Amino acid sequence: MSRLTSLSFGLLLAAGSLVGAAPKPGPQPSKPPPTCRFALKTTQEQVLKATDDFIWDMLYWEGKFHQNSVAYNSLNGMTYDGTLLDWTTGEPTQLHTFSAASKEALAFMLYAQVIKGSKEAARFLSPDDLKAAPGIARSILSTKLQTYQNFNQTYPGFGGHLPWFTSDQQDIAPTYDWVNRVPGLDNGELLWAIYACIQALEKAPGSDKTSKELAAHWQLWLDYAAKTAPKVFYQGDGKVCAVVAIKDQSLPLDHPDQSYSCESPTSLLDDPYEGETLAYFLQLYTDLPAKEKDAIWTYKRSAGKLAKVEYSQGGVGPITVRKGFWFSSHEVWNQLELPYFDVDIVKRVFMNGERVRTCNSVVTNTPGLYASVNNSTDPATGEIQGYISPAGIPSISWQTDSYLDVVTPYGAFPVMMFDKAVGLAWWRNMVVAKKMQNKYGSTEGARIDGTGVSAIVTWDSKVLTVVSLLGGVTDLVRDKMKAENVYQDFLRITKTEYGRIFDGPLEGENVKLCLPKISIPDAELEDFTSCSA
Ligand SMILES: *[C@@H]1O[C@H](CO)[C@@H](O)[C@H](O)[C@H]1NC(C)=O
Ligand SMILES: *[C@@H]1O[C@H](CO)[C@@H](O)[C@H](O)[C@H]1NC(C)=O
Ligand SMILES: *[C@@H]1O[C@H](CO)[C@@H](O)[C@H](O)[C@H]1NC(C)=O
Repeated sequence: MSRLTSLSFGLLLAAGSLVGAAPKPGPQPSKPPPTCRFALKTTQEQVLKATDDFIWDMLYWEGKFHQNSVAYNSLNGMTYDGTLLDWTTGEPTQLHTFSAASKEALAFMLYAQVIKGSKEAARFLSPDDLKAAPGIARSILSTKLQTYQNFNQTYPGFGGHLPWFTSDQQDIAPTYDWVNRVPGLDNGELLWAIYACIQALEKAPGSDKTSKELAAHWQLWLDYAAKTAPKVFYQGDGKVCAVVAIKDQSLPLDHPDQSYSCESPTSLLDDPYEGETLAYFLQLYTDLPAKEKDAIWTYKRSAGKLAKVEYSQGGVGPITVRKGFWFSSHEVWNQLELPYFDVDIVKRVFMNGERVRTCNSVVTNTPGLYASVNNSTDPATGEIQGYISPAGIPSISWQTDSYLDVVTPYGAFPVMMFDKAVGLAWWRNMVVAKKMQNKYGSTEGARIDGTGVSAIVTWDSKVLTVVSLLGGVTDLVRDKMKAENVYQDFLRITKTEYGRIFDGPLEGENVKLCLPKISIPDAELEDFTSCSA
Protein backbone atom coordinates (compact mmCIF):
# COMPACT_ATOMS: atom_id res chain seq x y z
CA MET A 1 0.00 0.00 0.00
CA SER A 2 1.18 3.43 -0.66
CA ARG A 3 1.51 5.98 2.03
CA LEU A 4 -1.46 7.75 0.48
CA THR A 5 -3.97 5.01 0.40
CA SER A 6 -2.75 3.62 3.68
CA LEU A 7 -4.18 6.66 5.37
CA SER A 8 -7.56 5.83 4.03
CA PHE A 9 -7.82 2.24 5.10
CA GLY A 10 -6.41 3.15 8.46
CA LEU A 11 -9.71 4.91 8.88
CA LEU A 12 -11.70 2.11 7.40
CA LEU A 13 -10.16 -0.38 9.75
CA ALA A 14 -10.75 1.82 12.74
CA ALA A 15 -14.39 1.83 11.77
CA GLY A 16 -14.65 -1.52 10.89
CA SER A 17 10.01 -13.51 -15.47
CA LEU A 18 9.07 -12.33 -18.42
CA VAL A 19 5.97 -12.04 -20.42
CA GLY A 20 5.89 -12.79 -24.07
CA ALA A 21 7.56 -16.14 -24.12
CA ALA A 22 5.14 -18.79 -25.24
CA PRO A 23 3.58 -20.25 -22.11
CA LYS A 24 5.67 -23.17 -20.96
CA PRO A 25 3.55 -26.26 -20.56
CA GLY A 26 3.32 -26.52 -16.80
CA PRO A 27 3.29 -29.84 -15.04
CA GLN A 28 0.26 -31.95 -15.92
CA PRO A 29 -2.97 -30.52 -14.50
CA SER A 30 -4.12 -34.08 -14.01
CA LYS A 31 -1.58 -34.53 -11.22
CA PRO A 32 -3.30 -34.62 -7.80
CA PRO A 33 -3.59 -31.12 -6.36
CA PRO A 34 -0.91 -30.04 -3.91
CA THR A 35 -1.80 -30.04 -0.23
CA CYS A 36 -2.66 -26.81 1.52
CA ARG A 37 0.67 -26.79 3.37
CA PHE A 38 2.65 -27.81 0.25
CA ALA A 39 5.45 -25.36 1.07
CA LEU A 40 6.45 -27.47 4.06
CA LYS A 41 7.17 -30.36 1.73
CA THR A 42 9.73 -28.41 -0.28
CA THR A 43 13.21 -27.33 0.60
CA GLN A 44 14.86 -24.14 -0.55
CA GLU A 45 17.08 -26.24 -2.83
CA GLN A 46 14.04 -27.78 -4.49
CA VAL A 47 12.50 -24.37 -5.09
CA LEU A 48 15.71 -23.25 -6.73
CA LYS A 49 15.97 -26.38 -8.88
CA ALA A 50 12.35 -27.11 -9.75
CA THR A 51 11.06 -23.55 -9.75
CA ASP A 52 8.26 -24.17 -12.26
CA ASP A 53 6.85 -27.03 -10.21
CA PHE A 54 6.79 -24.82 -7.15
CA ILE A 55 5.06 -22.02 -9.08
CA TRP A 56 2.46 -24.49 -10.30
CA ASP A 57 1.60 -25.51 -6.73
CA MET A 58 1.67 -21.97 -5.45
CA LEU A 59 -0.71 -20.69 -8.15
CA TYR A 60 -3.14 -23.48 -7.33
CA TRP A 61 -3.52 -22.22 -3.77
CA GLU A 62 -3.22 -18.48 -4.35
CA GLY A 63 -6.02 -18.89 -6.88
CA LYS A 64 -8.40 -20.09 -4.15
CA PHE A 65 -8.52 -16.45 -3.09
CA HIS A 66 -10.18 -15.62 -6.38
CA GLN A 67 -12.34 -18.71 -6.73
CA ASN A 68 -14.22 -18.40 -3.45
CA SER A 69 -16.05 -15.06 -3.48
CA VAL A 70 -13.40 -13.55 -1.25
CA ALA A 71 -11.57 -11.53 -3.87
CA TYR A 72 -14.50 -10.25 -5.89
CA ASN A 73 -18.24 -9.98 -6.18
CA SER A 74 -19.40 -12.09 -9.10
CA LEU A 75 -22.65 -10.10 -9.39
CA ASN A 76 -20.95 -6.86 -10.37
CA GLY A 77 -17.45 -8.07 -11.26
CA MET A 78 -15.80 -5.78 -8.72
CA THR A 79 -12.94 -6.61 -6.39
CA TYR A 80 -13.25 -6.95 -2.63
CA ASP A 81 -10.26 -5.81 -0.62
CA GLY A 82 -9.90 -9.22 1.06
CA THR A 83 -11.00 -10.91 4.26
CA LEU A 84 -9.92 -11.37 7.84
CA LEU A 85 -9.31 -14.96 8.90
CA ASP A 86 -10.29 -16.64 12.12
CA TRP A 87 -7.20 -16.91 14.31
CA THR A 88 -7.74 -20.61 15.04
CA THR A 89 -9.47 -22.08 12.02
CA GLY A 90 -8.32 -19.73 9.29
CA GLU A 91 -11.90 -19.54 8.00
CA PRO A 92 -12.98 -16.14 6.68
CA THR A 93 -14.57 -14.02 9.39
CA GLN A 94 -14.98 -10.52 8.08
CA LEU A 95 -15.16 -9.86 4.38
CA HIS A 96 -13.82 -6.45 3.42
CA THR A 97 -16.72 -5.35 1.28
CA PHE A 98 -14.80 -2.37 -0.08
CA SER A 99 -11.98 -1.95 -2.56
CA ALA A 100 -9.99 0.60 -4.54
CA ALA A 101 -8.59 1.31 -7.97
CA SER A 102 -5.25 -0.29 -7.02
CA LYS A 103 -6.88 -3.67 -6.37
CA GLU A 104 -8.86 -3.27 -9.58
CA ALA A 105 -5.50 -2.73 -11.31
CA LEU A 106 -4.24 -6.08 -10.04
CA ALA A 107 -7.40 -7.77 -11.28
CA PHE A 108 -7.02 -6.25 -14.75
CA MET A 109 -3.37 -7.31 -14.94
CA LEU A 110 -4.30 -10.82 -13.98
CA TYR A 111 -7.14 -11.03 -16.50
CA ALA A 112 -4.90 -9.56 -19.19
CA GLN A 113 -2.48 -12.44 -18.73
CA VAL A 114 -5.28 -14.99 -18.69
CA ILE A 115 -6.68 -13.60 -21.91
CA LYS A 116 -3.24 -13.47 -23.44
CA GLY A 117 -3.07 -17.21 -22.93
CA SER A 118 -0.75 -17.62 -19.98
CA LYS A 119 -1.10 -21.15 -18.61
CA GLU A 120 0.12 -19.96 -15.25
CA ALA A 121 -2.56 -17.28 -15.09
CA ALA A 122 -5.15 -19.90 -16.03
CA ARG A 123 -3.89 -22.14 -13.25
CA PHE A 124 -4.68 -19.33 -10.82
CA LEU A 125 -8.13 -18.58 -12.23
CA SER A 126 -9.43 -21.99 -13.19
CA PRO A 127 -7.09 -24.84 -12.24
CA ASP A 128 -9.54 -27.62 -13.08
CA ASP A 129 -10.17 -26.38 -16.58
CA LEU A 130 -7.37 -24.23 -17.92
CA LYS A 131 -9.11 -23.71 -21.24
CA ALA A 132 -12.09 -22.11 -19.54
CA ALA A 133 -9.97 -19.36 -17.99
CA PRO A 134 -10.03 -16.75 -20.81
CA GLY A 135 -13.82 -17.01 -21.01
CA ILE A 136 -14.14 -16.49 -17.27
CA ALA A 137 -11.89 -13.44 -17.43
CA ARG A 138 -13.84 -11.94 -20.33
CA SER A 139 -17.11 -12.51 -18.58
CA ILE A 140 -15.90 -10.74 -15.42
CA LEU A 141 -14.61 -7.85 -17.54
CA SER A 142 -17.95 -7.54 -19.21
CA THR A 143 -19.88 -7.48 -15.91
CA LYS A 144 -17.34 -5.05 -14.50
CA LEU A 145 -17.78 -2.68 -17.44
CA GLN A 146 -21.45 -2.32 -16.67
CA THR A 147 -20.63 -1.50 -13.05
CA TYR A 148 -18.06 1.13 -14.06
CA GLN A 149 -20.60 2.69 -16.38
CA ASN A 150 -23.32 2.76 -13.73
CA PHE A 151 -20.89 4.38 -11.33
CA ASN A 152 -20.08 7.02 -13.93
CA GLN A 153 -23.78 7.71 -14.43
CA THR A 154 -24.50 8.15 -10.72
CA TYR A 155 -21.26 9.92 -9.81
CA PRO A 156 -20.20 11.78 -12.94
CA GLY A 157 -17.97 14.04 -10.86
CA PHE A 158 -15.30 11.34 -10.74
CA GLY A 159 -14.84 11.54 -14.49
CA GLY A 160 -14.65 7.75 -14.62
CA HIS A 161 -11.88 7.51 -12.00
CA LEU A 162 -12.47 5.50 -8.85
CA PRO A 163 -12.42 6.35 -5.15
CA TRP A 164 -12.28 3.66 -2.49
CA PHE A 165 -15.68 2.10 -2.99
CA THR A 166 -18.09 -0.38 -1.45
CA SER A 167 -18.59 -3.37 -3.72
CA ASP A 168 -21.10 -5.61 -1.97
CA GLN A 169 -24.16 -4.07 -3.62
CA GLN A 170 -24.95 -4.28 -7.31
CA ASP A 171 -23.81 -0.69 -7.75
CA ILE A 172 -20.59 0.49 -6.19
CA ALA A 173 -20.47 3.74 -4.20
CA PRO A 174 -17.69 5.77 -2.58
CA THR A 175 -16.83 4.52 0.93
CA TYR A 176 -17.89 6.99 3.60
CA ASP A 177 -14.37 8.39 3.89
CA TRP A 178 -13.97 8.85 0.13
CA VAL A 179 -17.11 10.83 -0.60
CA ASN A 180 -16.07 13.69 -2.92
CA ARG A 181 -12.44 12.47 -3.01
CA VAL A 182 -10.34 10.54 -5.47
CA PRO A 183 -6.73 9.26 -5.22
CA GLY A 184 -4.30 9.82 -8.11
CA LEU A 185 -1.88 7.02 -7.43
CA ASP A 186 -4.34 4.14 -7.49
CA ASN A 187 -6.02 5.46 -10.61
CA GLY A 188 -2.69 5.78 -12.41
CA GLU A 189 -2.13 2.09 -11.68
CA LEU A 190 -5.62 1.24 -12.86
CA LEU A 191 -5.40 3.13 -16.16
CA TRP A 192 -2.33 1.21 -17.35
CA ALA A 193 -3.79 -2.10 -16.24
CA ILE A 194 -6.94 -1.48 -18.28
CA TYR A 195 -4.69 -0.40 -21.12
CA ALA A 196 -2.88 -3.77 -21.01
CA CYS A 197 -6.15 -5.63 -20.82
CA ILE A 198 -7.46 -3.91 -23.93
CA GLN A 199 -4.33 -4.95 -25.78
CA ALA A 200 -4.79 -8.55 -24.66
CA LEU A 201 -8.48 -8.57 -25.65
CA GLU A 202 -7.68 -7.21 -29.09
CA LYS A 203 -4.59 -9.17 -29.92
CA ALA A 204 -4.74 -12.49 -28.07
CA PRO A 205 -4.56 -15.53 -30.30
CA GLY A 206 -8.12 -16.59 -30.94
CA SER A 207 -9.49 -13.16 -30.13
CA ASP A 208 -12.95 -13.24 -31.63
CA LYS A 209 -15.63 -10.69 -32.32
CA THR A 210 -16.91 -10.61 -28.72
CA SER A 211 -13.38 -10.11 -27.48
CA LYS A 212 -12.77 -7.25 -29.84
CA GLU A 213 -16.08 -5.66 -28.93
CA LEU A 214 -15.25 -5.85 -25.26
CA ALA A 215 -11.86 -4.29 -26.04
CA ALA A 216 -13.59 -1.48 -27.91
CA HIS A 217 -15.91 -0.76 -24.97
CA TRP A 218 -13.04 -0.60 -22.52
CA GLN A 219 -11.14 1.57 -24.96
CA LEU A 220 -14.06 4.01 -24.89
CA TRP A 221 -13.89 3.98 -21.13
CA LEU A 222 -10.13 4.62 -21.24
CA ASP A 223 -10.56 7.42 -23.75
CA TYR A 224 -13.09 9.00 -21.46
CA ALA A 225 -10.77 8.69 -18.47
CA ALA A 226 -8.01 10.27 -20.57
CA LYS A 227 -10.30 13.12 -21.47
CA THR A 228 -11.21 13.85 -17.86
CA ALA A 229 -7.83 13.15 -16.20
CA PRO A 230 -6.33 16.65 -16.65
CA LYS A 231 -9.39 18.35 -15.23
CA VAL A 232 -9.63 15.98 -12.28
CA PHE A 233 -5.97 15.48 -11.36
CA TYR A 234 -3.94 18.32 -12.84
CA GLN A 235 -3.67 21.57 -10.93
CA GLY A 236 -1.39 23.58 -13.19
CA ASP A 237 2.28 24.52 -12.74
CA GLY A 238 3.26 20.89 -13.20
CA LYS A 239 1.36 19.81 -10.12
CA VAL A 240 -0.57 16.53 -10.09
CA CYS A 241 -2.77 15.87 -7.07
CA ALA A 242 -2.22 12.87 -4.82
CA VAL A 243 -5.76 13.21 -3.51
CA VAL A 244 -8.30 15.39 -5.25
CA ALA A 245 -11.15 17.13 -3.46
CA ILE A 246 -14.21 17.12 -5.72
CA LYS A 247 -16.74 19.85 -5.12
CA ASP A 248 -19.68 17.55 -5.75
CA GLN A 249 -19.29 13.99 -6.96
CA SER A 250 -22.84 13.97 -8.34
CA LEU A 251 -22.32 16.90 -10.69
CA PRO A 252 -20.94 16.42 -14.19
CA LEU A 253 -17.40 17.60 -14.83
CA ASP A 254 -18.39 20.63 -16.82
CA HIS A 255 -21.21 21.81 -14.54
CA PRO A 256 -20.65 25.44 -13.52
CA ASP A 257 -20.78 24.48 -9.83
CA GLN A 258 -18.25 21.67 -10.23
CA SER A 259 -14.59 22.12 -9.28
CA TYR A 260 -11.46 20.13 -8.42
CA SER A 261 -8.52 20.93 -6.21
CA CYS A 262 -5.69 19.08 -4.53
CA GLU A 263 -6.89 18.15 -1.08
CA SER A 264 -4.04 20.07 0.49
CA PRO A 265 -1.21 22.15 -0.99
CA THR A 266 1.19 19.33 -0.12
CA SER A 267 -1.03 16.55 -1.42
CA LEU A 268 0.95 16.21 -4.64
CA LEU A 269 1.93 13.20 -6.69
CA ASP A 270 5.54 13.94 -7.54
CA ASP A 271 7.22 10.65 -6.66
CA PRO A 272 9.24 8.38 -8.95
CA TYR A 273 7.43 5.30 -7.53
CA GLU A 274 3.90 3.97 -8.18
CA GLY A 275 2.55 7.52 -8.40
CA GLU A 276 4.51 8.01 -11.61
CA THR A 277 2.01 5.89 -13.53
CA LEU A 278 -0.36 8.86 -13.53
CA ALA A 279 2.33 11.27 -14.74
CA TYR A 280 3.08 9.01 -17.71
CA PHE A 281 -0.60 8.69 -18.50
CA LEU A 282 -1.11 12.45 -18.44
CA GLN A 283 1.97 12.81 -20.64
CA LEU A 284 1.16 10.17 -23.22
CA TYR A 285 -2.63 10.12 -23.42
CA THR A 286 -4.17 13.44 -22.50
CA ASP A 287 -4.67 16.66 -24.39
CA LEU A 288 -2.74 18.77 -21.90
CA PRO A 289 -0.65 21.31 -23.81
CA ALA A 290 3.00 20.29 -24.32
CA LYS A 291 4.09 23.11 -22.01
CA GLU A 292 2.04 21.64 -19.14
CA LYS A 293 3.33 18.17 -19.81
CA ASP A 294 6.90 19.43 -19.62
CA ALA A 295 6.01 21.22 -16.42
CA ILE A 296 4.98 17.93 -14.79
CA TRP A 297 8.50 16.52 -15.23
CA THR A 298 10.12 19.81 -14.26
CA TYR A 299 8.07 19.86 -11.10
CA LYS A 300 8.99 16.26 -10.28
CA ARG A 301 12.65 17.14 -10.79
CA SER A 302 12.41 20.11 -8.47
CA ALA A 303 10.82 17.88 -5.84
CA GLY A 304 14.03 15.85 -6.09
CA LYS A 305 12.55 12.53 -5.08
CA LEU A 306 14.35 10.54 -7.75
CA ALA A 307 17.75 10.26 -6.12
CA LYS A 308 20.79 8.06 -5.94
CA VAL A 309 22.12 6.50 -2.77
CA GLU A 310 24.67 3.87 -1.91
CA TYR A 311 23.98 0.95 0.36
CA SER A 312 26.75 -0.42 2.55
CA GLN A 313 26.14 -2.58 5.55
CA GLY A 314 27.66 -5.63 7.20
CA GLY A 315 30.30 -6.07 4.52
CA VAL A 316 27.81 -5.82 1.66
CA GLY A 317 28.25 -2.90 -0.70
CA PRO A 318 28.67 -0.27 -1.82
CA ILE A 319 25.69 -0.87 -4.11
CA THR A 320 24.15 2.06 -5.98
CA VAL A 321 20.37 2.16 -5.78
CA ARG A 322 17.49 4.54 -6.23
CA LYS A 323 16.62 6.06 -2.89
CA GLY A 324 13.41 4.60 -1.51
CA PHE A 325 10.51 6.30 0.18
CA TRP A 326 10.71 3.48 2.71
CA PHE A 327 12.18 1.04 0.19
CA SER A 328 9.01 -1.01 0.60
CA SER A 329 8.48 -3.47 -2.24
CA HIS A 330 5.18 -1.76 -2.90
CA GLU A 331 7.07 1.22 -4.35
CA VAL A 332 8.10 -0.63 -7.49
CA TRP A 333 4.56 -1.64 -8.51
CA ASN A 334 4.84 0.63 -11.58
CA GLN A 335 7.56 -1.65 -12.95
CA LEU A 336 4.95 -4.35 -13.46
CA GLU A 337 3.06 -2.04 -15.80
CA LEU A 338 5.37 0.29 -17.71
CA PRO A 339 8.34 -1.04 -19.71
CA TYR A 340 10.97 0.75 -17.62
CA PHE A 341 13.41 -2.12 -18.10
CA ASP A 342 13.70 -1.22 -21.78
CA VAL A 343 16.02 1.54 -20.61
CA ASP A 344 19.26 -0.19 -19.67
CA ILE A 345 20.30 2.12 -16.85
CA VAL A 346 16.89 1.82 -15.21
CA LYS A 347 16.94 -1.94 -15.36
CA ARG A 348 20.43 -2.04 -13.86
CA VAL A 349 19.55 0.37 -11.06
CA PHE A 350 16.43 -1.63 -10.20
CA MET A 351 18.35 -4.90 -10.28
CA ASN A 352 20.75 -3.35 -7.78
CA GLY A 353 17.75 -2.54 -5.64
CA GLU A 354 16.91 -6.24 -5.45
CA ARG A 355 20.52 -7.10 -4.55
CA VAL A 356 20.11 -4.75 -1.64
CA ARG A 357 16.61 -5.89 -0.71
CA THR A 358 17.71 -9.51 -0.40
CA CYS A 359 21.21 -8.98 1.06
CA ASN A 360 20.00 -6.42 3.60
CA SER A 361 17.74 -9.06 5.10
CA VAL A 362 20.66 -11.44 5.35
CA VAL A 363 23.03 -8.98 7.00
CA THR A 364 20.32 -7.87 9.45
CA ASN A 365 19.43 -11.49 10.29
CA THR A 366 15.91 -11.10 9.00
CA PRO A 367 14.05 -14.23 7.86
CA GLY A 368 12.01 -12.39 5.22
CA LEU A 369 11.55 -9.22 3.19
CA TYR A 370 9.99 -5.88 4.06
CA ALA A 371 7.08 -4.05 2.50
CA SER A 372 4.28 -1.87 3.85
CA VAL A 373 1.80 -4.32 5.24
CA ASN A 374 -0.98 -4.94 7.75
CA ASN A 375 0.30 -5.49 11.27
CA SER A 376 -0.21 -8.77 13.07
CA THR A 377 -3.53 -9.84 14.55
CA ASP A 378 -4.40 -9.46 18.20
CA PRO A 379 -5.51 -13.03 18.92
CA ALA A 380 -7.77 -11.81 21.74
CA THR A 381 -9.93 -9.70 19.42
CA GLY A 382 -9.12 -11.11 15.98
CA GLU A 383 -8.43 -7.56 14.81
CA ILE A 384 -5.41 -6.37 12.83
CA GLN A 385 -3.31 -4.02 14.95
CA GLY A 386 -3.05 -1.22 12.42
CA TYR A 387 -1.06 -0.74 9.25
CA ILE A 388 2.72 -0.70 9.01
CA SER A 389 3.75 1.86 6.43
CA PRO A 390 7.40 2.23 7.48
CA ALA A 391 8.60 -1.25 6.51
CA GLY A 392 11.59 -1.19 4.20
CA ILE A 393 15.26 -0.28 4.44
CA PRO A 394 15.65 2.98 6.38
CA SER A 395 19.36 3.47 5.60
CA ILE A 396 18.62 4.09 1.90
CA SER A 397 15.26 5.85 2.22
CA TRP A 398 13.80 9.31 2.59
CA GLN A 399 11.76 8.24 5.58
CA THR A 400 13.87 7.23 8.51
CA ASP A 401 11.16 5.94 10.83
CA SER A 402 10.76 2.22 10.73
CA TYR A 403 8.88 -0.71 12.18
CA LEU A 404 10.74 -3.84 11.20
CA ASP A 405 9.08 -6.60 13.20
CA VAL A 406 6.84 -7.91 10.41
CA VAL A 407 7.84 -9.40 7.05
CA THR A 408 5.54 -10.27 4.17
CA PRO A 409 5.67 -12.81 1.32
CA TYR A 410 4.79 -10.08 -1.18
CA GLY A 411 8.03 -8.35 -0.23
CA ALA A 412 9.56 -10.83 -2.67
CA PHE A 413 7.63 -9.78 -5.76
CA PRO A 414 10.24 -7.34 -7.10
CA VAL A 415 12.98 -9.96 -6.68
CA MET A 416 10.90 -12.28 -8.90
CA MET A 417 11.01 -9.75 -11.73
CA PHE A 418 14.72 -10.50 -11.97
CA ASP A 419 15.02 -14.00 -10.62
CA LYS A 420 11.93 -16.11 -9.98
CA ALA A 421 13.86 -18.83 -8.19
CA VAL A 422 15.51 -16.54 -5.66
CA GLY A 423 12.30 -14.56 -5.16
CA LEU A 424 10.38 -17.75 -4.51
CA ALA A 425 13.03 -18.99 -2.10
CA TRP A 426 12.28 -15.90 0.00
CA TRP A 427 8.54 -16.35 -0.44
CA ARG A 428 8.85 -19.95 0.71
CA ASN A 429 11.00 -18.94 3.65
CA MET A 430 8.15 -16.78 4.95
CA VAL A 431 5.20 -19.06 4.20
CA VAL A 432 6.72 -22.11 5.90
CA ALA A 433 6.26 -20.31 9.24
CA LYS A 434 3.28 -21.29 11.36
CA LYS A 435 -0.10 -20.02 10.09
CA MET A 436 1.52 -18.52 6.98
CA GLN A 437 -0.55 -20.68 4.64
CA ASN A 438 -4.32 -20.83 4.71
CA LYS A 439 -7.09 -22.11 2.49
CA TYR A 440 -6.60 -19.12 0.19
CA GLY A 441 -2.83 -19.53 -0.16
CA SER A 442 -0.27 -17.32 1.55
CA THR A 443 -1.09 -15.29 4.67
CA GLU A 444 -0.42 -11.53 4.69
CA GLY A 445 2.54 -11.23 7.04
CA ALA A 446 4.51 -12.74 9.89
CA ARG A 447 6.29 -11.37 12.92
CA ILE A 448 9.99 -12.12 12.51
CA ASP A 449 10.14 -13.68 15.99
CA GLY A 450 7.38 -16.13 15.07
CA THR A 451 4.97 -14.86 17.72
CA GLY A 452 2.26 -13.65 15.39
CA VAL A 453 0.85 -13.34 11.88
CA SER A 454 -1.47 -10.93 10.12
CA ALA A 455 -4.48 -13.20 9.74
CA ILE A 456 -5.84 -11.58 6.61
CA VAL A 457 -5.71 -12.19 2.86
CA THR A 458 -5.64 -9.29 0.39
CA TRP A 459 -5.02 -8.51 -3.28
CA ASP A 460 -1.92 -6.53 -2.40
CA SER A 461 -0.18 -9.18 -0.40
CA LYS A 462 -1.09 -12.04 -2.72
CA VAL A 463 -1.82 -10.98 -6.26
CA LEU A 464 1.06 -8.52 -6.66
CA THR A 465 3.29 -11.58 -6.33
CA VAL A 466 1.25 -13.63 -8.76
CA VAL A 467 1.24 -10.83 -11.32
CA SER A 468 4.99 -10.47 -10.92
CA LEU A 469 5.50 -14.18 -11.59
CA LEU A 470 3.40 -13.77 -14.74
CA GLY A 471 5.80 -11.07 -15.88
CA GLY A 472 3.51 -8.13 -15.15
CA VAL A 473 1.91 -6.56 -18.20
CA THR A 474 4.88 -4.66 -19.61
CA ASP A 475 4.90 -6.62 -22.87
CA LEU A 476 1.28 -5.78 -23.57
CA VAL A 477 1.83 -2.16 -22.63
CA ARG A 478 4.93 -1.89 -24.82
CA ASP A 479 3.07 -3.32 -27.82
CA LYS A 480 0.19 -0.92 -27.46
CA MET A 481 2.54 2.01 -26.88
CA LYS A 482 4.39 1.14 -30.08
CA ALA A 483 1.19 0.74 -32.05
CA GLU A 484 0.00 4.12 -30.84
CA ASN A 485 3.31 5.89 -31.32
CA VAL A 486 3.93 6.88 -27.74
CA TYR A 487 6.68 4.38 -26.96
CA GLN A 488 9.53 6.66 -28.06
CA ASP A 489 8.18 9.41 -25.86
CA PHE A 490 8.11 7.01 -22.93
CA LEU A 491 11.72 5.97 -23.57
CA ARG A 492 12.89 9.53 -24.04
CA ILE A 493 11.49 10.74 -20.75
CA THR A 494 12.61 7.71 -18.81
CA LYS A 495 16.14 7.97 -20.22
CA THR A 496 16.31 11.68 -19.49
CA GLU A 497 15.01 11.51 -15.95
CA TYR A 498 17.10 8.51 -14.89
CA GLY A 499 20.14 9.58 -16.92
CA ARG A 500 20.32 12.85 -15.00
CA ILE A 501 20.62 11.06 -11.71
CA PHE A 502 22.48 7.90 -12.67
CA ASP A 503 25.13 9.46 -14.85
CA GLY A 504 28.19 7.54 -13.70
CA PRO A 505 29.08 3.90 -13.13
CA LEU A 506 26.94 1.92 -10.70
CA GLU A 507 28.58 0.26 -7.75
CA GLY A 508 27.80 -3.29 -6.80
CA GLU A 509 26.59 -4.79 -10.06
CA ASN A 510 28.70 -7.87 -9.41
CA VAL A 511 26.92 -8.69 -6.14
CA LYS A 512 24.71 -11.78 -6.27
CA LEU A 513 21.12 -11.75 -5.04
CA CYS A 514 21.17 -13.18 -1.52
CA LEU A 515 19.22 -16.21 -0.37
CA PRO A 516 17.54 -16.47 3.03
CA LYS A 517 19.83 -17.87 5.69
CA ILE A 518 17.58 -18.12 8.72
CA SER A 519 13.99 -19.17 9.41
CA ILE A 520 11.18 -17.55 11.31
CA PRO A 521 11.49 -19.26 14.72
CA ASP A 522 8.80 -21.58 15.98
CA ALA A 523 7.18 -19.68 18.84
CA GLU A 524 4.53 -22.33 19.30
CA LEU A 525 1.79 -20.86 17.20
CA GLU A 526 -0.53 -23.50 15.78
CA ASP A 527 -1.26 -23.71 12.07
CA PHE A 528 -4.79 -22.79 11.02
CA THR A 529 -6.90 -25.91 11.53
CA SER A 530 -8.30 -25.60 7.99
CA CYS A 531 -4.77 -25.70 6.57
CA SER A 532 -2.44 -27.76 8.68
CA ALA A 533 0.28 -30.21 7.79
C1 LIG B 1 -19.63 9.01 -18.24
O1 LIG B 1 -20.69 9.89 -17.96
C2 LIG B 1 -20.65 11.06 -18.74
C3 LIG B 1 -21.69 12.01 -18.18
O2 LIG B 1 -22.91 11.38 -18.00
C4 LIG B 1 -20.86 10.70 -20.18
O3 LIG B 1 -20.82 11.85 -21.00
C5 LIG B 1 -19.74 9.76 -20.61
O4 LIG B 1 -19.93 9.32 -21.94
C6 LIG B 1 -19.67 8.56 -19.69
N1 LIG B 1 -18.49 7.81 -20.01
C7 LIG B 1 -18.51 6.52 -20.30
C8 LIG B 1 -17.20 5.90 -20.67
O5 LIG B 1 -19.51 5.85 -20.26
C1 LIG C 1 -3.81 -4.26 4.31
O1 LIG C 1 -5.16 -3.95 4.56
C2 LIG C 1 -5.76 -3.03 3.71
C3 LIG C 1 -7.15 -2.78 4.22
O2 LIG C 1 -7.82 -3.98 4.37
C4 LIG C 1 -5.73 -3.54 2.30
O3 LIG C 1 -6.27 -2.61 1.40
C5 LIG C 1 -4.32 -3.87 1.88
O4 LIG C 1 -4.33 -4.48 0.63
C6 LIG C 1 -3.70 -4.81 2.89
N1 LIG C 1 -2.36 -5.25 2.54
C7 LIG C 1 -1.36 -4.50 2.10
C8 LIG C 1 -0.10 -5.19 1.81
O5 LIG C 1 -1.43 -3.32 1.92
C1 LIG D 1 2.03 -3.46 15.49
O1 LIG D 1 1.43 -4.16 16.55
C2 LIG D 1 2.20 -4.17 17.75
C3 LIG D 1 1.43 -4.97 18.78
O2 LIG D 1 1.59 -6.31 18.55
C4 LIG D 1 2.41 -2.76 18.25
O3 LIG D 1 3.23 -2.77 19.39
C5 LIG D 1 3.07 -1.93 17.16
O4 LIG D 1 3.16 -0.59 17.57
C6 LIG D 1 2.28 -2.02 15.87
N1 LIG D 1 3.04 -1.33 14.84
C7 LIG D 1 2.55 -0.39 14.06
C8 LIG D 1 3.48 0.24 13.11
O5 LIG D 1 1.38 -0.07 14.10
